[in-house]
Amino acid sequence: MLQDKITQYTEEINAFSTEKADELEQFRIKFLGTKGIIKDIFDEFKAVSPEEKRTLGKVLNEFKQLAEAKYQFLKENNVAEESVKVADADLTLPGEGFEIGARHPLALVRREIIEIFNKLGFVVAEGPEIEDDWHNFSALNFPEEHPARDMQDTFFIKKGGEKGDIALRTHTSSVQVRMMEAGQPPFRAIMPGRVYRNEAISARAHCFFHQVEGLYLDENVSFADLKQTLFYFVQELYGEGTKVRFRPSYFPFTEPSAEMDISCTICKGDGCNMCKYSGWVEILGCGMVDPNVLENCNIDSKKYSGFAFGMGIERIANLKFEIKDLRLFSENDVRFLKQYKTSLI
Ligand code: PHE
Repeated sequence: MLQDKITQYTEEINAFSTEKADELEQFRIKFLGTKGIIKDIFDEFKAVSPEEKRTLGKVLNEFKQLAEAKYQFLKENNVAEESVKVADADLTLPGEGFEIGARHPLALVRREIIEIFNKLGFVVAEGPEIEDDWHNFSALNFPEEHPARDMQDTFFIKKGGEKGDIALRTHTSSVQVRMMEAGQPPFRAIMPGRVYRNEAISARAHCFFHQVEGLYLDENVSFADLKQTLFYFVQELYGEGTKVRFRPSYFPFTEPSAEMDISCTICKGDGCNMCKYSGWVEILGCGMVDPNVLENCNIDSKKYSGFAFGMGIERIANLKFEIKDLRLFSENDVRFLKQYKTSLI
């Protein structure tokens, strides 16, 4: 009987479910195909008596709609194309590794510098990037008319104020002043941070860069302590056997002052482009803290002495990685940044 067949197939359709596209296709062919069950039933229907047609017609249409609805539902909701692919895939193939990020080369170098000084008992100190004239210049013994205060070097933000003009700090020596103002020696600290100078951007100069400065203040600190500390630092950073030399220099906040060169890390002193064939490259400025600076910060310059130094992280990174163009550091080009993934992590 047609009615029985419909009842039986209705149950089958209701019970049917699959997540596999090929099984769903089988279902479609079986019920909805051109030679499928629904076609057969409709053919049989033509032969039934007129009375039966009246009752069965509706049942039959509902049955057909059920089959179509079930098919649509499964197609849209249950059968994920992917699941078919996964089932068919070669599971022995290697996975699709996902990329982990890389540390920025400047972050790598900064961290290495910090770690070396940590071993010597230096802590990390931080301060604001927006500074007043006092902390960036005056307390550091810069005379009023010193060219470094000039608009060409400093990004001034605001005129006046209790502690002078407001500007973007030009070095992290300002953090040393803040530290000295806040307490009394002994101090043993390094100050990493971003600094700003009003320079046209080129391969060799940028309007901002990064520094690590350091301060060591205690009783009886001498230039010999400065030399030994920086010598140790260089051996740790660039390897044993790296030579250092000090050249007299001038900074308003240190006396005596020096610039420190190291034997070229690229050619080991034989002469190359990096060291301009001199065998030496300059890496930092340093000196004994000027007594005026100590007095400006209410520290007894008769009792205490100490040394300070400052270096550019970009310069150190350049000597480590031979990065010729400073602009690369701030362009965020993934092809550049990717290269430092495995170094120094
Ligand atoms: N502050 C100096 C600069 O930015 C570096 C320096 C720090 C030199 C401490 C000597 C002592 O160039």
